[in-house]
Amino acid sequence: MSQDSDKPWAGRFNEPTDAFVEAFTASVGFDQRMYRQDIAGSIAHASMLAKVGVLTKDECKLIVDGLKHIEQKISDGNFTWSTRLEDVHMNIESALTENIGNVGKKLHTGRSRNDQVATDIRLYLRDETQLILGELKRLQVALIDLAEQHADTILPGFTHLQTAQPITFGHHLLAWFEMLQRDQSRLEDGLKRMNVLPLGSAALAGTTYPIDREYTAGLLGFDSVTENSLDSVSDRDFVIEFTSAASLIMMHLSRFSEELIIWSAAQFDFIELGESFCTGSSIMPQKKNPDVPELIRGKSGRVFGHLMGLLTLMKGQPLAYNKDNQEDKEPLFDTIDNLKGSLKVFADMVPNIQVKKENMYQAAFKGFATATDLADYLVTKGVAFRDAHEVVGSAVRFGIEQDKDLSEMSLSELQNFSDAIEQDVFEVLTLEGSVAARNHIGGTAPAQVKAAVKRARKRV
Ligand code: ARG
Repeated sequence: MSQDSDKPWAGRFNEPTDAFVEAFTASVGFDQRMYRQDIAGSIAHASMLAKVGVLTKDECKLIVDGLKHIEQKISDGNFTWSTRLEDVHMNIESALTENIGNVGKKLHTGRSRNDQVATDIRLYLRDETQLILGELKRLQVALIDLAEQHADTILPGFTHLQTAQPITFGHHLLAWFEMLQRDQSRLEDGLKRMNVLPLGSAALAGTTYPIDREYTAGLLGFDSVTENSLDSVSDRDFVIEFTSAASLIMMHLSRFSEELIIWSAAQFDFIELGESFCTGSSIMPQKKNPDVPELIRGKSGRVFGHLMGLLTLMKGQPLAYNKDNQEDKEPLFDTIDNLKGSLKVFADMVPNIQVKKENMYQAAFKGFATATDLADYLVTKGVAFRDAHEVVGSAVRFGIEQDKDLSEMSLSELQNFSDAIEQDVFEVLTLEGSVAARNHIGGTAPAQVKAAVKRARKRV
C-alpha cells in the first residue's frame, strides 16, 4: 500500500500522487454542484442492487440513510470537500464509508465513475433545462403582454436599418416570441435524447452482476436505458446539443439586446428601459446606460465559445471514456449559468420597458415609409408595378427636395407624377391605413396582432 491509502486505486500504486498533479486533475471544485444528482443516482443504484439481491435490504438501508445524511450535511454547508478525493463521486463515497463503515464500500458494486458521471450530468442538465424552460416561458409571456398593449402602436419597420415600411410594435415583439418558441422546442427536443439512463454501462463494457437497469431508470425518471455501454460512458453529444440550443437562444437575446440598445439611444428614443436595469456614468452625469442588454450581447460570445470548445473536446477521442471528458463540465455549467441569468433578467426587464409611442409614430412618418403603399395603390388603378415603382421614386425625390411626406402632398402635386392618382390615395398614405392593409396571417395589421396574441397565449 502506498501512502495514498484513502484513494480507491491505492493498491496498485507505490508512489503518492504528485501534489500539483492531484490539484491539477481534480474536478471537485466544480463538479460538487452535482451532489444532489450524484446522491440520487447512488440511492437508485443501491436500491436496484438490493432488488436483485447483490445487497441485503439492511445494507441498502444503511447506505441510503447514510447518503441522505450526507446530502443534508452538504446542503447545510457542513461538508468538507477534499481535492485529495478528486471529484464529487469519490468525496461522497468516502464520506459514506467514514460514516457507516465498511458497508459503504459496497455501493460502488457494478458501476464505475464513468457511468456514474454520465448519469449525473444527464440528471443535472435535465433539472437545469426545466428551470431554463421556465424562464424562457416567463419571457415569452412578458412579450405577449407587451404585444397585446401595443397591437396598434406604429413604428417604422427597417431593412438595412433604413426605414422600410410602417409596422405595429406588437407585431415586432411577436417576432421575438416566435424565435423563443423555436428555442423552446429545441430544448424540449434535446430533453428526449438526454433523458436516457447510462448507468449500468460500468467502466465501458457493462458488468457481470445481474443488474436491472430498467428498474434504476424508473426510479430516476429516465424514459429508457441506453443501448450501448461504450457509447454511454463516452459520448457527450447531449451536452453539445444543449450548448448549441443555448447558443441559438443567446444569439436571439443578443439581437434583441441590440435593438433595445438602439431604441433607447437619444437618436431613436423609442423606448426607455427601467432604471433598475441601467447604470449611470461616473463622469458624465447625463448618462443612463443600457448595461443589461449590452452585457447579454457580450455573454453570447462566451456561450458560442463553449460550443466550439465542447465540439473540439470530443473530436479526437477514441472510445470509450477518456479523462478529457472531465473538461465538459465547466463550459456546460458556465453556459447554464449565463443562459439562465440572461433569460431571467430579460423576463424581468421586458415588462419594465416604457414605450414612447409618439416618437415611434413620428419616426415612421419620416423616411417615406408608405412609398410601397403608393406603388400598390397605383397597381390597383391599372399601372404596371415597375412603372408604379418609378412614379413613386419621382414623388419621393420631390418629397426630399420639399421636405414633405407623401401624405403631406396635395392631390395636384401627386397627380404631377401620375394621373391615375385620385382623392382616395390619402387612405393608403396614412400609417394607420398602411398597417391595417396588411391583414393576413403573419401580417402587421393590428387585427392580426390581436389574433396572434390569442394564439400565442395558447401555444406558450
Ligand atoms: N471526474 C471525472 C469526470 O468528470 C469522473 C470520471 C472519472 N473516471 C475515470 N476513470 N477517471 O469525468
